[in-house]
Amino acid sequence: MRAIVITGVGGPEVLEVREVPTPEPSGKQVRVRVRACGLNRADLLQARGHYPAPPDAPADIPGLEYAGEVEALGPDVTGPLRVGDRVFGIVGGGGQAESVLTHERLAVPIPPNLDFVTAAAVPEAFLTAHDALLTQGRLAPGRRVLIHAAGSGVGTAAVQLAHAMGCTVFGTSRTAAKLERVKALGLDQGIDTSHEDFAAVVQSQTGGAGVDVIVDFLGGPALAGNLAALAPRGRLVLVGLLGGTSAPLDLNLMLRKRLTIVGTTLRARPLEEKIAATRRFAEEVIPWLARGLVHPVVDSVFPFEEVRAALARLESNQVFGKVVLRMGSPLFKV
Ligand SMILES: NC(=O)c1ccc[n+]([C@@H]2O[C@H](COP(=O)([O-])OP(=O)(O)OC[C@H]3O[C@@H](n4cnc5c(N)ncnc54)[C@H](OP(=O)(O)O)[C@@H]3O)[C@@H](O)[C@H]2O)c1
Repeated sequence: MRAIVITGVGGPEVLEVREVPTPEPSGKQVRVRVRACGLNRADLLQARGHYPAPPDAPADIPGLEYAGEVEALGPDVTGPLRVGDRVFGIVGGGGQAESVLTHERLAVPIPPNLDFVTAAAVPEAFLTAHDALLTQGRLAPGRRVLIHAAGSGVGTAAVQLAHAMGCTVFGTSRTAAKLERVKALGLDQGIDTSHEDFAAVVQSQTGGAGVDVIVDFLGGPALAGNLAALAPRGRLVLVGLLGGTSAPLDLNLMLRKRLTIVGTTLRARPLEEKIAATRRFAEEVIPWLARGLVHPVVDSVFPFEEVRAALARLESNQVFGKVVLRMGSPLFKV
C-alpha cells in the first residue's frame, strides 16, 4: 500500500508518499481501506520529533483519523462490523495511508448523510470537543461556555455541540472574519483577541457572573484571563497549548472561586479509555450528525499526494475548520 511516511526530522518537506507493507489485522483489529483522512497539528509536531507515536501505532506514518471502508477482519472480531461497512474513527497514528488498522470498538459507522471527505473531518474534532465539553468539563445544558480559537477544527465542533445543548457560547479568534463564520454555527458572542481582552468581555457580557466551562487551546498566555473569566466552581479544560506551555498560576483566585483545571489528550490514553470516549461520542454525537444538527466544517481538501501543501495550509493559521486529504486516483470519487 502507499502511505505518507515521515522520512526525517523537520517540517512538511520531510513527508513523502512511499510504498510500505499492508498491515494484517490481528485479534480484535479491523483493517480499513482509507478513503479520506483529516490533518492535525499533531502530524506536524510528530514530523518535528516532538510527539512520538504511541507503541501501538506505526512510528513513521502520521494520521490520527480516517474515514473509509472495512476491508479485513481480525480473527477475534465479534462485533457487528462487516467487510464493506463505512466507518470512521481516531487512531494513535497510521491514518495517512491507503489502509489502517484499528480496534473494532474504535471504528464507528459513518452516518449515511456524510460522504468520506466530510466524514474524515469528524473524528478528532468532534470526539475531542465532545470529550472536553461533557466528560472533562461536565457542561450541562443551558450553561455558559467559552471556546478559544473558535474557528479551529476542534473549536468549530465545540461551538456547535455547545449551541445544540442550548448553552450560551462565547468564542475567541484573532481573525474577525472567522468569528463572523462561527456565528453561523451557533456562536453567541465573538471576541476578537487581536484587540479585545476576552476576560473583560466575558465579565461585562455576563454581568460579572463568568462562564461555567472554558475549552482552551492556547495555554500559557490565556491562563490568567481564563481564571478571571470563569464563574465560581468553573472548569478550565486544557486541550492545546498553541500559545505556550507555562504561565504563573494565581492559586488565591483558584481557591476563592473553587476552580478546576483539567488537562486532556486523546492520543496518549489507554485503549479502554479511547473506546469509552468513542462509544460515548457514538451514542451522543452521531445522532446529531445524522440529523444535521451539527456538521463537520471542511476548510480544504487536498489529494493524498499533496500532503506537504495541505500541512502548510494548516500551519498558516488561515484554516477555518478541518483540512482533509482525499485518497485514490483522480477517477475515484468520494
Ligand atoms: N488534547 C487533545 O486530545 C487534542 C485533540 C485535537 C487537537 N488538540 C489540539 O487542539 C488545538 C487546536 O487543534 P485544531 O486542529 O482544532 O487547530 P486548527 O484547526 O489548526 O486551528 C488552530 C487555530 O488557533 C489559532 N491560533 C494558532 N496559534 C495561536 C496562538 N499562538 N495564539 C492564539 N491563537 C492561535 C489560529 O486561529 P486564529 O489566528 O484565527 O485565532 C488557528 O487557526 C491544537 O493545539 C491541537 O494540537 C488536542
